[in-house]
Amino acid sequence: MILVVGAEGMLGRDLMEVLPGEVRGVDLPEIDITSFESVLEVVGRYRPQVIVNAVAYTDVDGCETQAELAMQVNGEGVAILAMAAKESGAKLVQVSTDYVFDGSKGAPYLEDDPYAPLSVYGESKLAGEMNARFAPGALVVRTQWLYGLHGKNFVETMLRLGREKDELAVVNDQVGSPTWTVDLARAIRVLIERDCSGIYHAANSGFCTWNEFARTIFAEAGLSVRVNPLNTEQLGRPARRPLYSTLECGKLVQDTGFQLQPWQEALGQYLQLRREKAAQTPKVSGCGGAGISRQRRRPVERGERPWGTYTVLEENRNYKIKRIEVLPGKRLSLQKHHHRSEHWIVVSGTAKVTCGEREYMVNINESTFIPIGESHRLENPGMIPLVIIEVQSGEYLGEDDIIRFQDDFHRCVEGSAT
Ligand SMILES: NC(=O)c1ccc[n+]([C@@H]2O[C@H](COP(=O)([O-])OP(=O)(O)OC[C@H]3O[C@@H](n4cnc5c(N)ncnc54)[C@H](OP(=O)(O)O)[C@@H]3O)[C@@H](O)[C@H]2O)c1
Repeated sequence: MILVVGAEGMLGRDLMEVLPGEVRGVDLPEIDITSFESVLEVVGRYRPQVIVNAVAYTDVDGCETQAELAMQVNGEGVAILAMAAKESGAKLVQVSTDYVFDGSKGAPYLEDDPYAPLSVYGESKLAGEMNARFAPGALVVRTQWLYGLHGKNFVETMLRLGREKDELAVVNDQVGSPTWTVDLARAIRVLIERDCSGIYHAANSGFCTWNEFARTIFAEAGLSVRVNPLNTEQLGRPARRPLYSTLECGKLVQDTGFQLQPWQEALGQYLQLRREKAAQTPKVSGCGGAGISRQRRRPVERGERPWGTYTVLEENRNYKIKRIEVLPGKRLSLQKHHHRSEHWIVVSGTAKVTCGEREYMVNINESTFIPIGESHRLENPGMIPLVIIEVQSGEYLGEDDIIRFQDDFHRCVEGSAT
Protein backbone atom coordinates (compact mmCIF):
# COMPACT_ATOMS: atom_id res chain seq x y z
CA MET A 1 0.00 0.00 0.00
CA ILE A 2 1.18 3.52 -0.80
CA LEU A 3 0.65 6.26 1.78
CA VAL A 4 0.44 9.78 0.37
CA VAL A 5 1.24 12.35 3.04
CA GLY A 6 -0.05 15.80 2.15
CA ALA A 7 -2.91 14.18 0.19
CA GLU A 8 -5.04 17.33 0.23
CA GLY A 9 -2.39 19.52 -1.39
CA MET A 10 -2.18 20.39 -5.09
CA LEU A 11 0.19 17.54 -5.96
CA GLY A 12 -1.17 15.21 -3.27
CA ARG A 13 -4.66 15.22 -4.78
CA ASP A 14 -3.33 14.17 -8.19
CA LEU A 15 -1.05 11.54 -6.64
CA MET A 16 -4.16 10.01 -5.06
CA GLU A 17 -5.62 9.62 -8.56
CA VAL A 18 -2.53 8.48 -10.43
CA LEU A 19 -0.57 6.15 -8.12
CA PRO A 20 -1.18 2.43 -8.66
CA GLY A 21 -2.72 -0.22 -6.43
CA GLU A 22 -3.97 0.56 -2.95
CA VAL A 23 -3.38 4.19 -2.04
CA ARG A 24 -4.17 5.90 1.27
CA GLY A 25 -4.06 9.63 1.78
CA VAL A 26 -3.39 11.58 4.98
CA ASP A 27 -3.00 15.28 5.67
CA LEU A 28 -3.40 17.69 8.55
CA PRO A 29 -4.97 17.14 11.08
CA GLU A 30 -4.80 13.32 10.77
CA ILE A 31 -1.03 13.59 10.49
CA ASP A 32 1.39 16.35 11.43
CA ILE A 33 4.79 15.46 10.04
CA THR A 34 6.52 17.70 12.58
CA SER A 35 5.31 15.41 15.39
CA PHE A 36 7.04 12.08 16.11
CA GLU A 37 3.96 10.71 17.85
CA SER A 38 1.67 11.61 14.99
CA VAL A 39 3.92 10.13 12.26
CA LEU A 40 4.66 6.94 14.19
CA GLU A 41 0.98 6.43 14.96
CA VAL A 42 -0.12 6.88 11.33
CA VAL A 43 2.69 4.80 9.82
CA GLY A 44 2.12 2.12 12.47
CA ARG A 45 -1.60 2.08 11.68
CA TYR A 46 -1.35 1.82 7.87
CA ARG A 47 1.96 -0.07 7.53
CA PRO A 48 2.64 1.24 3.98
CA GLN A 49 5.27 -0.19 1.65
CA VAL A 50 5.86 3.29 0.20
CA ILE A 51 5.45 6.72 1.79
CA VAL A 52 5.19 9.63 -0.65
CA ASN A 53 5.74 12.98 1.04
CA ALA A 54 3.87 15.75 -0.78
CA VAL A 55 3.78 17.94 2.34
CA ALA A 56 5.56 21.26 2.32
CA TYR A 57 5.35 24.76 3.62
CA THR A 58 5.29 26.18 0.07
CA ASP A 59 4.84 29.92 0.63
CA VAL A 60 8.29 30.92 -0.66
CA ASP A 61 8.08 34.54 0.55
CA GLY A 62 6.34 33.56 3.79
CA CYS A 63 9.26 31.25 4.60
CA GLU A 64 11.56 34.31 4.86
CA THR A 65 9.71 35.50 7.95
CA GLN A 66 8.67 32.02 9.16
CA ALA A 67 12.08 30.37 8.89
CA GLU A 68 11.59 28.15 11.91
CA LEU A 69 8.27 26.83 10.68
CA ALA A 70 9.74 26.30 7.19
CA MET A 71 12.59 24.25 8.61
CA GLN A 72 10.24 22.29 10.89
CA VAL A 73 7.92 21.27 8.05
CA ASN A 74 10.29 21.06 5.07
CA GLY A 75 13.38 19.82 6.90
CA GLU A 76 12.71 18.19 10.27
CA GLY A 77 9.35 16.76 9.22
CA VAL A 78 11.13 14.81 6.49
CA ALA A 79 13.63 13.48 9.06
CA ILE A 80 10.72 12.16 11.11
CA LEU A 81 9.15 10.54 8.05
CA ALA A 82 12.54 9.06 7.11
CA MET A 83 12.93 7.59 10.57
CA ALA A 84 9.44 6.08 10.46
CA ALA A 85 10.14 4.74 6.94
CA LYS A 86 13.41 3.18 8.08
CA GLU A 87 11.80 1.62 11.16
CA SER A 88 8.91 0.15 9.21
CA GLY A 89 10.90 -0.86 6.10
CA ALA A 90 8.92 1.48 3.84
CA LYS A 91 10.38 3.33 0.88
CA LEU A 92 10.31 7.12 1.22
CA VAL A 93 9.62 9.35 -1.75
CA GLN A 94 10.40 13.03 -1.13
CA VAL A 95 9.33 15.81 -3.48
CA SER A 96 11.82 18.66 -3.80
CA THR A 97 12.46 21.76 -5.86
CA ASP A 98 14.74 23.62 -8.28
CA TYR A 99 15.08 26.28 -5.54
CA VAL A 100 17.93 24.20 -4.07
CA PHE A 101 19.99 25.77 -6.92
CA ASP A 102 21.02 29.41 -7.33
CA GLY A 103 20.33 29.57 -11.06
CA SER A 104 23.80 30.78 -12.03
CA LYS A 105 24.83 27.70 -14.06
CA GLY A 106 23.38 29.04 -17.30
CA ALA A 107 22.30 25.55 -18.43
CA PRO A 108 19.78 22.93 -17.21
CA TYR A 109 20.71 21.49 -13.80
CA LEU A 110 21.78 17.87 -13.43
CA GLU A 111 20.87 15.82 -10.37
CA ASP A 112 24.38 15.99 -8.90
CA ASP A 113 25.11 19.65 -9.65
CA PRO A 114 26.17 21.58 -6.53
CA TYR A 115 23.23 23.08 -4.68
CA ALA A 116 23.26 26.65 -3.42
CA PRO A 117 19.82 27.77 -2.28
CA LEU A 118 19.10 31.51 -2.30
CA SER A 119 16.06 31.49 0.01
CA VAL A 120 14.88 30.07 3.32
CA TYR A 121 12.44 27.90 1.37
CA GLY A 122 15.32 26.51 -0.74
CA GLU A 123 17.43 25.88 2.34
CA SER A 124 14.61 24.11 4.14
CA LYS A 125 13.85 21.93 1.10
CA LEU A 126 17.54 21.07 0.81
CA ALA A 127 17.46 19.99 4.46
CA GLY A 128 14.49 17.80 3.53
CA GLU A 129 16.49 16.17 0.73
CA MET A 130 19.38 15.43 3.08
CA ASN A 131 17.07 14.06 5.74
CA ALA A 132 15.21 11.85 3.29
CA ARG A 133 18.44 10.01 2.50
CA PHE A 134 18.41 8.68 6.06
CA ALA A 135 15.78 6.18 4.86
CA PRO A 136 17.40 3.35 2.86
CA GLY A 137 16.44 3.43 -0.82
CA ALA A 138 14.88 6.89 -0.55
CA LEU A 139 13.85 8.61 -3.76
CA VAL A 140 14.04 12.41 -4.13
CA VAL A 141 12.12 13.93 -7.04
CA ARG A 142 12.95 17.56 -7.82
CA THR A 143 10.44 19.53 -9.83
CA GLN A 144 9.47 23.16 -10.52
CA TRP A 145 6.77 25.73 -11.36
CA LEU A 146 3.86 23.43 -10.47
CA TYR A 147 0.23 24.02 -11.34
CA GLY A 148 -2.78 21.76 -10.98
CA LEU A 149 -6.51 21.68 -10.38
CA HIS A 150 -6.32 21.52 -6.61
CA GLY A 151 -4.28 24.45 -5.38
CA LYS A 152 -3.31 28.06 -5.77
CA ASN A 153 -0.93 28.46 -8.69
CA PHE A 154 0.30 30.80 -11.43
CA VAL A 155 -2.15 29.59 -14.09
CA GLU A 156 -5.16 30.19 -11.84
CA THR A 157 -3.80 33.60 -10.80
CA MET A 158 -3.29 34.63 -14.44
CA LEU A 159 -6.77 33.45 -15.45
CA ARG A 160 -8.29 35.45 -12.60
CA LEU A 161 -6.26 38.57 -13.37
CA GLY A 162 -6.90 38.15 -17.08
CA ARG A 163 -10.65 38.40 -16.46
CA GLU A 164 -10.19 41.53 -14.32
CA LYS A 165 -7.54 43.51 -16.25
CA ASP A 166 -6.52 44.13 -19.82
CA GLU A 167 -2.86 44.89 -19.02
CA LEU A 168 -0.36 43.21 -16.67
CA ALA A 169 3.37 43.25 -15.95
CA VAL A 170 4.96 39.80 -15.55
CA VAL A 171 8.58 38.88 -14.79
CA ASN A 172 10.61 38.15 -17.91
CA ASP A 173 14.04 37.33 -16.45
CA GLN A 174 13.31 34.04 -14.63
CA VAL A 175 13.41 30.91 -16.76
CA GLY A 176 11.97 27.53 -15.85
CA SER A 177 9.65 24.71 -16.95
CA PRO A 178 5.98 25.01 -15.99
CA THR A 179 4.95 21.55 -14.78
CA TRP A 180 1.46 20.06 -14.52
CA THR A 181 0.98 18.09 -11.29
CA VAL A 182 -0.69 15.22 -13.18
CA ASP A 183 2.42 14.74 -15.33
CA LEU A 184 4.64 14.91 -12.24
CA ALA A 185 2.43 12.33 -10.47
CA ARG A 186 2.81 10.05 -13.52
CA ALA A 187 6.60 10.38 -13.34
CA ILE A 188 6.53 9.55 -9.61
CA ARG A 189 4.37 6.52 -10.38
CA VAL A 190 6.89 5.22 -12.91
CA LEU A 191 9.84 5.84 -10.56
CA ILE A 192 8.08 3.90 -7.78
CA GLU A 193 7.17 1.05 -10.13
CA ARG A 194 10.82 0.79 -11.21
CA ASP A 195 11.95 1.01 -7.55
CA CYS A 196 14.31 3.89 -8.43
CA SER A 197 16.24 5.57 -5.64
CA GLY A 198 18.46 8.62 -5.33
CA ILE A 199 17.72 11.98 -6.94
CA TYR A 200 15.68 12.46 -10.13
CA HIS A 201 14.56 15.59 -11.94
CA ALA A 202 11.00 15.62 -13.31
CA ALA A 203 9.49 18.61 -15.10
CA ASN A 204 7.53 19.16 -18.30
CA SER A 205 9.98 19.54 -21.18
CA GLY A 206 10.96 22.85 -22.74
CA PHE A 207 11.25 26.13 -20.86
CA CYS A 208 10.07 29.73 -20.85
CA THR A 209 9.94 32.87 -18.71
CA TRP A 210 6.96 33.62 -16.46
CA ASN A 211 6.13 36.37 -18.95
CA GLU A 212 6.01 33.93 -21.87
CA PHE A 213 4.04 31.47 -19.75
CA ALA A 214 1.45 34.17 -18.96
CA ARG A 215 1.14 35.12 -22.65
CA THR A 216 0.60 31.47 -23.58
CA ILE A 217 -2.05 31.04 -20.88
CA PHE A 218 -3.98 34.08 -22.14
CA ALA A 219 -3.69 32.97 -25.76
CA GLU A 220 -4.90 29.43 -24.94
CA ALA A 221 -7.74 30.75 -22.80
CA GLY A 222 -8.79 33.27 -25.46
CA LEU A 223 -8.20 36.28 -23.16
CA SER A 224 -6.92 39.49 -24.69
CA VAL A 225 -4.42 40.86 -22.18
CA ARG A 226 -1.35 42.95 -22.83
CA VAL A 227 1.60 41.41 -20.94
CA ASN A 228 4.39 43.87 -20.23
CA PRO A 229 7.92 42.87 -19.16
CA LEU A 230 9.12 43.29 -15.59
CA ASN A 231 12.39 42.22 -14.01
CA THR A 232 12.82 40.39 -10.72
CA GLU A 233 14.37 43.40 -9.03
CA GLN A 234 11.43 45.62 -9.98
CA LEU A 235 9.03 43.05 -8.52
CA GLY A 236 10.89 43.23 -5.19
CA ARG A 237 9.70 39.97 -3.59
CA PRO A 238 11.13 39.10 -0.12
CA ALA A 239 12.69 35.76 -1.21
CA ARG A 240 15.42 35.58 -3.84
CA ARG A 241 14.71 33.17 -6.70
CA PRO A 242 17.06 31.46 -9.15
CA LEU A 243 16.99 33.20 -12.54
CA TYR A 244 17.69 30.12 -14.68
CA SER A 245 16.82 26.85 -12.97
CA THR A 246 15.55 24.47 -15.60
CA LEU A 247 16.02 20.83 -14.67
CA GLU A 248 17.72 18.32 -16.96
CA CYS A 249 15.42 15.26 -16.90
CA GLY A 250 17.55 12.87 -18.99
CA LYS A 251 18.20 10.53 -16.06
CA LEU A 252 14.46 9.95 -15.64
CA VAL A 253 14.10 9.15 -19.35
CA GLN A 254 17.16 6.91 -19.37
CA ASP A 255 16.20 4.88 -16.29
CA THR A 256 12.44 4.61 -16.86
CA GLY A 257 11.75 5.44 -20.51
CA PHE A 258 9.25 8.03 -19.29
CA GLN A 259 9.44 11.59 -20.57
CA LEU A 260 7.17 14.40 -19.46
CA GLN A 261 5.42 16.10 -22.38
CA PRO A 262 6.28 19.65 -23.54
CA TRP A 263 4.92 22.30 -21.19
CA GLN A 264 2.72 23.84 -23.93
CA GLU A 265 0.91 20.52 -24.47
CA ALA A 266 0.50 19.94 -20.74
CA LEU A 267 -0.97 23.45 -20.36
CA GLY A 268 -3.42 22.79 -23.21
CA GLN A 269 -4.59 19.56 -21.55
CA TYR A 270 -4.88 21.24 -18.17
CA LEU A 271 -7.01 24.08 -19.56
CA GLN A 272 -9.21 21.59 -21.39
CA LEU A 273 -9.68 19.50 -18.23
CA ARG A 274 -10.41 22.65 -16.30
CA ARG A 275 -13.11 23.63 -18.82
CA GLU A 276 -14.66 20.15 -18.60
CA LYS A 277 -14.70 20.26 -14.79
CA ALA A 278 -16.19 23.74 -14.83
CA ALA A 279 -18.96 22.55 -17.17
CA GLN A 280 -19.73 19.61 -14.87
CA THR A 281 -19.62 21.48 -11.56
CA PRO A 282 -22.53 23.73 -10.64
CA LYS A 283 -21.32 27.15 -9.53
CA VAL A 284 -21.36 27.54 -5.76
CA SER A 285 -21.49 31.09 -4.52
CA GLY A 286 -18.35 32.08 -2.66
CA CYS A 287 -16.16 29.61 -4.54
CA GLY A 288 -13.33 30.97 -6.66
CA GLY A 289 -12.24 29.84 -10.10
CA ALA A 290 -14.38 29.16 -13.11
CA GLY A 291 -17.03 27.32 -11.18
CA ILE A 292 -14.56 24.70 -9.93
CA SER A 293 -15.65 23.46 -6.56
CA ARG A 294 -13.18 24.37 -3.83
CA GLN A 295 -14.40 21.62 -1.55
CA ARG A 296 -11.49 19.85 0.15
CA ARG A 297 -12.99 16.38 0.30
CA ARG A 298 -10.56 13.75 -0.93
CA PRO A 299 -10.65 9.98 -1.23
CA VAL A 300 -9.68 8.33 2.05
CA GLU A 301 -8.54 5.15 0.35
CA ARG A 302 -8.53 3.72 -3.14
CA GLY A 303 -7.83 0.19 -4.27
CA GLU A 304 -7.71 -1.94 -7.40
CA ARG A 305 -9.37 -5.35 -7.49
CA PRO A 306 -9.63 -7.94 -10.27
CA TRP A 307 -13.25 -6.85 -10.85
CA GLY A 308 -12.60 -3.07 -10.87
CA THR A 309 -11.82 -0.39 -8.30
CA TYR A 310 -13.14 1.01 -5.05
CA THR A 311 -12.66 4.39 -3.41
CA VAL A 312 -13.55 5.10 0.21
CA LEU A 313 -15.08 8.59 0.09
CA GLU A 314 -15.84 8.97 3.76
CA GLU A 315 -15.27 6.85 6.83
CA ASN A 316 -16.55 7.14 10.35
CA ARG A 317 -16.89 4.87 13.37
CA ASN A 318 -20.24 3.43 12.29
CA TYR A 319 -20.62 4.30 8.62
CA LYS A 320 -18.49 4.14 5.51
CA ILE A 321 -19.24 5.50 2.02
CA LYS A 322 -17.57 3.83 -0.96
CA ARG A 323 -17.61 4.38 -4.70
CA ILE A 324 -17.41 1.00 -6.42
CA GLU A 325 -16.69 0.64 -10.13
CA VAL A 326 -17.24 -2.81 -11.62
CA LEU A 327 -15.83 -3.57 -15.05
CA PRO A 328 -18.20 -4.86 -17.78
CA GLY A 329 -18.91 -8.58 -17.37
CA LYS A 330 -17.29 -8.82 -13.92
CA ARG A 331 -18.81 -9.60 -10.54
CA LEU A 332 -17.75 -9.48 -6.91
CA SER A 333 -17.79 -12.57 -4.73
CA LEU A 334 -20.99 -14.01 -3.26
CA GLN A 335 -20.55 -12.90 0.34
CA LYS A 336 -22.15 -11.83 3.58
CA HIS A 337 -21.38 -9.63 6.58
CA HIS A 338 -22.21 -10.25 10.25
CA HIS A 339 -22.05 -6.68 11.47
CA ARG A 340 -23.15 -4.30 8.75
CA SER A 341 -25.94 -3.59 6.31
CA GLU A 342 -25.39 -1.89 2.97
CA HIS A 343 -27.31 0.47 0.70
CA TRP A 344 -26.29 0.40 -2.93
CA ILE A 345 -27.17 3.34 -5.18
CA VAL A 346 -26.48 2.88 -8.89
CA VAL A 347 -25.03 6.06 -10.43
CA SER A 348 -23.91 4.67 -13.80
CA GLY A 349 -24.74 1.48 -15.69
CA THR A 350 -27.00 -1.31 -14.49
CA ALA A 351 -26.38 -3.70 -11.60
CA LYS A 352 -27.40 -7.32 -11.34
CA VAL A 353 -27.94 -7.95 -7.65
CA THR A 354 -28.24 -11.21 -5.77
CA CYS A 355 -29.69 -10.82 -2.28
CA GLY A 356 -30.66 -14.01 -0.45
CA GLU A 357 -32.80 -16.08 -2.84
CA ARG A 358 -33.62 -13.11 -5.10
CA GLU A 359 -31.87 -11.97 -8.26
CA TYR A 360 -32.86 -8.61 -9.75
CA MET A 361 -31.64 -5.63 -11.79
CA VAL A 362 -31.05 -2.18 -10.32
CA ASN A 363 -30.92 0.67 -12.85
CA ILE A 364 -29.31 4.09 -12.71
CA ASN A 365 -30.69 6.29 -9.89
CA GLU A 366 -32.30 3.28 -8.19
CA SER A 367 -31.07 1.72 -4.97
CA THR A 368 -31.28 -1.53 -3.04
CA PHE A 369 -30.78 -2.59 0.56
CA ILE A 370 -28.65 -5.53 1.73
CA PRO A 371 -29.60 -6.52 5.30
CA ILE A 372 -27.08 -7.75 7.87
CA GLY A 373 -26.37 -11.47 7.50
CA GLU A 374 -27.91 -11.77 3.99
CA SER A 375 -25.77 -13.37 1.29
CA HIS A 376 -25.33 -11.01 -1.64
CA ARG A 377 -23.45 -10.34 -4.85
CA LEU A 378 -22.93 -7.37 -7.17
CA GLU A 379 -22.48 -7.97 -10.89
CA ASN A 380 -22.09 -5.82 -13.99
CA PRO A 381 -23.93 -7.54 -16.85
CA GLY A 382 -23.57 -4.49 -19.12
CA MET A 383 -21.11 -3.15 -21.67
CA ILE A 384 -20.07 -0.03 -19.73
CA PRO A 385 -18.57 0.23 -16.24
CA LEU A 386 -21.09 -0.05 -13.42
CA VAL A 387 -20.66 2.58 -10.69
CA ILE A 388 -22.44 2.36 -7.37
CA ILE A 389 -22.23 4.32 -4.17
CA GLU A 390 -22.22 1.88 -1.25
CA VAL A 391 -23.22 3.14 2.18
CA GLN A 392 -22.22 0.69 4.89
CA SER A 393 -23.57 1.07 8.40
CA GLY A 394 -23.20 -1.06 11.47
CA GLU A 395 -21.26 -1.62 14.65
CA TYR A 396 -18.14 -2.96 12.88
CA LEU A 397 -17.01 -2.09 9.35
CA GLY A 398 -13.64 -3.82 9.15
CA GLU A 399 -12.64 -5.51 5.88
CA ASP A 400 -12.35 -8.80 7.79
CA ASP A 401 -16.13 -8.94 8.28
CA ILE A 402 -16.59 -10.71 4.95
CA ILE A 403 -17.50 -14.33 4.44
CA ARG A 404 -17.11 -15.43 0.84
CA PHE A 405 -19.00 -18.41 -0.59
CA GLN A 406 -18.11 -18.19 -4.22
CA ASP A 407 -15.58 -16.05 -6.06
CA ASP A 408 -14.52 -15.76 -9.70
CA PHE A 409 -11.04 -14.78 -8.54
CA HIS A 410 -10.46 -17.67 -6.11
CA ARG A 411 -10.41 -15.51 -2.97
CA CYS A 412 -12.75 -17.65 -0.84
CA VAL A 413 -10.78 -17.07 2.32
CA GLU A 414 -12.69 -15.78 5.31
CA GLY A 415 -11.51 -12.33 6.33
CA SER A 416 -9.90 -11.21 3.08
CA ALA A 417 -10.78 -7.89 1.46
CA THR A 418 -13.73 -7.32 -0.95
N1 LIG B 1 4.08 24.46 -5.93
C1 LIG B 1 5.18 24.51 -6.66
O1 LIG B 1 5.32 25.32 -7.59
C2 LIG B 1 6.32 23.59 -6.35
C3 LIG B 1 7.51 23.68 -7.09
C4 LIG B 1 8.54 22.79 -6.83
C5 LIG B 1 8.39 21.83 -5.85
N2 LIG B 1 7.24 21.78 -5.12
C6 LIG B 1 7.15 20.75 -4.09
O2 LIG B 1 6.07 19.89 -4.46
C7 LIG B 1 5.47 19.37 -3.27
C8 LIG B 1 3.97 19.57 -3.34
O3 LIG B 1 3.72 20.98 -3.42
P1 LIG B 1 2.23 21.55 -3.51
O4 LIG B 1 2.33 22.86 -4.21
O5 LIG B 1 1.29 20.48 -3.99
O6 LIG B 1 1.95 21.83 -1.97
P2 LIG B 1 0.60 22.29 -1.26
O7 LIG B 1 -0.52 22.41 -2.24
O8 LIG B 1 0.92 23.48 -0.41
O9 LIG B 1 0.26 21.05 -0.33
C9 LIG B 1 0.96 20.75 0.83
C10 LIG B 1 0.03 20.00 1.76
O10 LIG B 1 0.77 19.70 2.95
C11 LIG B 1 -0.06 19.98 4.08
N3 LIG B 1 0.75 20.26 5.25
C12 LIG B 1 1.39 21.39 5.59
N4 LIG B 1 2.06 21.24 6.75
C13 LIG B 1 1.84 19.96 7.15
C14 LIG B 1 2.26 19.20 8.26
N5 LIG B 1 3.04 19.69 9.23
N6 LIG B 1 1.88 17.90 8.35
C15 LIG B 1 1.08 17.36 7.40
N7 LIG B 1 0.63 18.04 6.32
C16 LIG B 1 1.01 19.33 6.20
C17 LIG B 1 -0.84 21.21 3.63
O11 LIG B 1 -1.98 21.38 4.45
P3 LIG B 1 -2.57 22.88 4.67
O12 LIG B 1 -2.97 23.35 3.32
O13 LIG B 1 -3.69 22.66 5.60
O14 LIG B 1 -1.44 23.67 5.24
C18 LIG B 1 -1.20 20.82 2.20
O15 LIG B 1 -2.35 20.02 2.14
C19 LIG B 1 6.17 20.04 -2.11
O16 LIG B 1 7.21 19.22 -1.65
C20 LIG B 1 6.77 21.29 -2.73
O17 LIG B 1 7.92 21.74 -2.02
C21 LIG B 1 6.22 22.62 -5.36
